[in-house]
Amino acid sequence: MDMPRAAYLVIGPGAIGTYVGGHLALAGRRVVFWARPSSAATLRAHGLRLRVAGEAWRTVPPEQLGVVTTPDEVLQAGPYAAAFLAVKTYHLPDLLPALRRAAAAWPVLVDLLNGVGSTETLQAALGAERVLAGTVTSPVTRHAAGHITVERHRGLGLAQHPASGEVAAALRAAGLPVRLYADAASLKWSKLLTNLLGNATAALLDWPPARIYAHRGLFALEHAQLVEALAVMDALGLPVVALPGVPSRALAWGARHLPPWLLQPVLVYKVGRGRGQKMPSLHRDVHAGHGQTEIAALHGAVARTAARLGLTAPTNALLADLVQRMARGDLSPDALRHNPAALLARWHAARRAAA
Ligand SMILES: NC(=O)c1ccc[n+]([C@@H]2O[C@H](COP(=O)([O-])OP(=O)(O)OC[C@H]3O[C@@H](n4cnc5c(N)ncnc54)[C@H](OP(=O)(O)O)[C@@H]3O)[C@@H](O)[C@H]2O)c1
Repeated sequence: MDMPRAAYLVIGPGAIGTYVGGHLALAGRRVVFWARPSSAATLRAHGLRLRVAGEAWRTVPPEQLGVVTTPDEVLQAGPYAAAFLAVKTYHLPDLLPALRRAAAAWPVLVDLLNGVGSTETLQAALGAERVLAGTVTSPVTRHAAGHITVERHRGLGLAQHPASGEVAAALRAAGLPVRLYADAASLKWSKLLTNLLGNATAALLDWPPARIYAHRGLFALEHAQLVEALAVMDALGLPVVALPGVPSRALAWGARHLPPWLLQPVLVYKVGRGRGQKMPSLHRDVHAGHGQTEIAALHGAVARTAARLGLTAPTNALLADLVQRMARGDLSPDALRHNPAALLARWHAARRAAA
């Protein structure tokens, strides 16, 4: 007798949810998306549309998808072999009570959020054994709910967990490259390092990352934020791990050892090329005007952890503060737009104050 194929729950039908859920669905898995009402309507009307940049579009018709909007519907449409969490870090506090109500439907929740802190928050809410830390290194552009372009098909990292092997096998069978990692914190912090690059500065200056890295003063600021984050990782005893398709270890080595005149041209090339057509996420969130960004889980986390460890991270603290204020409307987008000198003056002042 044929066993029914395991279903997967994807929480959030945005860029990453559609990337993971779309590949699973195209591989013949039953996939249920947990969406907010407006995106649920889009999925029910159009299904999924995804492509890797330069390749043909692939589609999953609506009738092949499950779409649910409430914890009760999640429970009714389950059980699931695993759930994938693919919301933004700033969605998590509002979502937590609903996650708690629906958690009986899945044995393990894969946390795909960028930044640090989400895994610990989820573990505290759901139980440590129910959460698997993961990360996605493919840059993905969302056009609408369930409608994406994968700018570069790199893959996922999953931390050690009793369910990692099974989840990795399902993802690999769906064509997603997966690497397994011994330590969740090293995985999340290594990914965070890459999310610092040209991200806050692009939001503040309204410049693309390659232009930022080509500017000598801004390159020094970018370099300083990496060195601060690496000092935090060192103090936490976390090695930088190699991520799928991303030279995170080489980045860390270069930031520690290479002279700026050698590191700068390499990063101008890498940072410009690595993103595809996408502006960084902080730029998109700040300029979308909805008031929320992931900065607290990125530069903010570096600054907070540094302070807890008795270190200083004035560059990350400044960037976190400025981006937060700009997103909230307390700092005009014109204050620093196309004005590296103004940002660098604030940075030099922050470093003097911290010395
Ligand atoms: N995009 C990338 O290239 C990329 C790469 C690696 C990692 N990441 C990380 O992956 C995470 C997800 O990013 P993303 O780019 O996929 O974001 P996104 O495209 O904005 O998608 C987030 C999704 O979460 C949904 N959502 C929010 N609250 C919800 C709720 N209460 N119930 C159900 N759905 C909810 C949103 O719903 P609506 O559709 O209603 O807005 C949206 O569909 C972030 O931490 C990001 O940093 C992103």
